[in-house]
Amino acid sequence: MKLILDGNVNVYYIQTLCMIFFPGEKFGAAEQEAPDAPMLSLRLRARNGGMEAAVTVTANGKSASATRFLEDSEHHTGEKTAKLVCGLAVIAACGQLLGYRPSWGMLTGVRPSKVATELLRQGLSKTRVKKILASEYSVIPKKAALATDVAINEQKIIGNPGRRDCSLYISIPFCPTRCSYCSFVSYTSRKLLDLIPDYLERLMTDVRQMAAKIRELGLRLCTVYIGGGTPTILTPDQLRRLLSTIAECVDVGALEEYTLESGRADTITAEKFAVAREYGVNRVCVNAQSLSDEVLQNIGRCHTAADFFRAFAVARASGIPYINTDLIVGLPGDHFHIFAKSFDQVVALRPENLTVHTFCVKKAADILRQDSHVYSLRGGDAGKCVDYTQLRAAQEGYRPYYMYRQKNTVGNFENVGFALEGAECRYNVYMMEEVHSIFAAGAGAVSKMVDYTPRGGGKPVIERLFYPKYPYEYLKDDSTGQKTAVMEAFYRQHGLLD
Ligand SMILES: C[S@@+](CC[C@H](N)C(=O)[O-])C[C@H]1O[C@@H](n2cnc3c(N)ncnc32)[C@H](O)[C@@H]1O
Ligand code: SF4
Repeated sequence: MKLILDGNVNVYYIQTLCMIFFPGEKFGAAEQEAPDAPMLSLRLRARNGGMEAAVTVTANGKSASATRFLEDSEHHTGEKTAKLVCGLAVIAACGQLLGYRPSWGMLTGVRPSKVATELLRQGLSKTRVKKILASEYSVIPKKAALATDVAINEQKIIGNPGRRDCSLYISIPFCPTRCSYCSFVSYTSRKLLDLIPDYLERLMTDVRQMAAKIRELGLRLCTVYIGGGTPTILTPDQLRRLLSTIAECVDVGALEEYTLESGRADTITAEKFAVAREYGVNRVCVNAQSLSDEVLQNIGRCHTAADFFRAFAVARASGIPYINTDLIVGLPGDHFHIFAKSFDQVVALRPENLTVHTFCVKKAADILRQDSHVYSLRGGDAGKCVDYTQLRAAQEGYRPYYMYRQKNTVGNFENVGFALEGAECRYNVYMMEEVHSIFAAGAGAVSKMVDYTPRGGGKPVIERLFYPKYPYEYLKDDSTGQKTAVMEAFYRQHGLLD
């Protein structure tokens, strides 16, 4: 795509905006010269206490233009006003040309609820925040309302984060087989699954070391999250070994929440959940994704809807109080009426948490090669499905409490976590909002050291520490001692222990 920019404009920002309408376009020298490439010209000027942007966009022999003016205000001046007004003009011109209004307007690469939170923190009312998201960020009104509701619910959960609060993440990147849509790192072949016993030994050593550092620094461990892959791939004995190790080094009774992600129905048994309950796990995930056997088969999920219902009943019977169920909108072969039925069937089971993802076409996923048409600008009827989940969830007493967006999702829609009142997954919010440190153990695990309220003021400070992505590499890694030393140094440097 060809860009002609006039004024003090950040070229990368304009490219990002163009990608909303022209996904996959490139902006190199060859495209600048290509006579039939889409073209966008933008002129930015300061005028009367604000900024004005004029945009003309041309593609396939047609053109559209738009000019927008935005006054500086108490919540944006200078550079920010310029960014917003460029966004407004690009969205208006491209929208006119292509007859498409992106639900999230110019919001890319930033969590919409984060923008809403920042505005709420400036003391603006809920109504005003929704209006600003709509008028200054071009977010459509129902999404502006969703982002604002999520921001308010998140803040209720976060409250005033303690400087010594933290959480622990434990990674089990193994699954019985690979689902065709998934690009998470997870080992599935027999040979690699044979690594599990060695992996567990190493993992338990790291968990002990991390937990020791948390105790030594006098931190308050709020939540533990065992995620995957599919953690219930472990046998009941392996699970007992892992959970008993955790129980030895963590005061499980003092946790706000303890999640075993579980996931796929074909790995869930009453015996495993009995072990989980015995060791204090209070939240599990039993994921449907879809309840159409045909769709489940399309995505290589290796279980049926009946298997999901059985696994859900096992979870309920175990007495573990919080169950989460994941669904995905926009899966290959899914349609509104099939999805709505899946959603209603899940809601009828009253899981405490309900997480609705939008299908994300990741490059590595096999599905891209099999079914490359699934990703479209408007997302087919995925938008209708997303709306349905938000409307029905509200009718059924579920509130949206966390939300994020990913690149390359069908129709550019969002992922939303819903919960019954008081049953929100706190780890998800802490992790997403980066309000306290996450100590992480296992392959692919990323620890985040967080100083949420730096002493001198300013934005939160975050330092990340990475374990190798793959279990094979993780088994050879010996960085845990070094990591815990860096963690301690972070706490001391930032005065978090004073
Ligand atoms: C880390 S995955 C693992 C959970 C578990 N292994 C399972 O499959 O049930 C967490 C969730 O991400 C979602 N997910 C995974 N791949 C996705 C994709 N390509 N697009 C949208 N959501 C996806 C699914 O809803 C999945 O339950
Ligand atoms: S079970 Fe979950 S993590 Fe494993 S391959 Fe399937 S979607 Fe990915």
